[in-house]
Amino acid sequence: MKLDITKVTPFVGLDTINGYKVRATEALKTLEEGTCPGNDFLGWLHLPSSITPQFLAEVKAAAQTLREECDAVVVAGIGGSYLGAKAVIEALSNSFQWLLNDGKNPVILFAGNNIGEDYLYELTTYLKGKKFGVINISKSGTTTETALAFRLLKKQCEEQRGKETAKKVIVAITDAKRGAARTCADKEGYKSFIIPDNVGGRFSVLTPVGLLPIAVAGFDIEQLVKGAQDMEKDATLAAEYAATRYALYQTGKKIEILANYQPKLHFIAEWWKQLYGESEGKDNKGIYPASVDLTTDLHSMGQWIQEGERTIFETVISVENPEHKLLFPSDEENLDGLNFLAGKRVDEVNKMAELGTQLAHVDGGVPNLRVSIERLDAYNLGQLIYFFELGCGLYCQLLGVNAFNQPGVEAYKKNMFALLGKPGYEKETAEIKARLS
Ligand code: PA5
Repeated sequence: MKLDITKVTPFVGLDTINGYKVRATEALKTLEEGTCPGNDFLGWLHLPSSITPQFLAEVKAAAQTLREECDAVVVAGIGGSYLGAKAVIEALSNSFQWLLNDGKNPVILFAGNNIGEDYLYELTTYLKGKKFGVINISKSGTTTETALAFRLLKKQCEEQRGKETAKKVIVAITDAKRGAARTCADKEGYKSFIIPDNVGGRFSVLTPVGLLPIAVAGFDIEQLVKGAQDMEKDATLAAEYAATRYALYQTGKKIEILANYQPKLHFIAEWWKQLYGESEGKDNKGIYPASVDLTTDLHSMGQWIQEGERTIFETVISVENPEHKLLFPSDEENLDGLNFLAGKRVDEVNKMAELGTQLAHVDGGVPNLRVSIERLDAYNLGQLIYFFELGCGLYCQLLGVNAFNQPGVEAYKKNMFALLGKPGYEKETAEIKARLS
């Protein structure tokens, strides 16, 4: 993996960035020593190197049971209990996986990440008559979105497959002792995995939260972990990323746009947005993490990026080598005037679009970082995941916020429960009704 910041230095001097890099490297010590705010949640820091082959074998065995017993597996979870698995599975899957239906892998579906009635209706309708299983993921075990989906799916699975089979094909990933998901798993006798106490949701993709669904989808979790382990050995790139972000933030760049040129990376950006947004957006501080899929969004957000308010910078994730080879076709009539491209790799055209865009954005006043990986495989994704996690941890130390809590997420829940009349919320219900009357 490489990080190129040469297209940032026209905007912020290298000396400034290097100064922050020294501070970011010092910040690593505060993470290592556990002297930073939120130090109860530093389990992710040396998570990759703590993963044993025995543990991976246990995850793979559980995945194998689901693969053998199910045509579809629904992963119920939200936020950190959803996005990591979704991101890796999308990045590694055939773009048309859901149409292939080749019987080699179970269809992986996601639920519990919204409260859309139509979504849940359509999902449960699709599952009618199907041999499906469920991975119920919730650290707290009390998240409304996930609990709702799980209620529906558990009931349907038991009705369709019988209680005994349901026990085999429902897996819980939750806290060791607390919460409804733990109580239910223990009572029903489901296979379960623990989300370590000291690993917060958005840093949990390398725990069973991410590893089990990824293994069920048929991908190589050993290589994913190996990539993260290798990245754990050297914090240089993450410190440089953290320092560059911080330097840009100090010059008034308040929005970071993560851009990709491979549609399969869309959900990597969603995962990244959660990781950074929930970690740094507090105390009225923090860069707003946004994302675009390019070249698609050059025909929509491209205008804003090129000429809108100059408060943005861009980080491009670039994949050096595509998996497949496809040439730009020649056309006898050449009505579109594109025969000059005939015979070139499609990826060469994509790469020139990427370079041309980067230069245009820099000319337009948008500092650009480039993170490149050799290919889109499990190993490189493992590297990318740990790089972004560590970069986030270090950057939040520079910013002076607790990266590992999310107090702001409670505000909507409090209002929603008050509006829905949850027992125990009587005072809040009265207040919110008075406010709305
Ligand atoms: O990063 C986080 O901590 C959150 O996004 C959680 O993952 C999310 O709210 C889901 O929580 P839980 O796993 O408790 O259902």
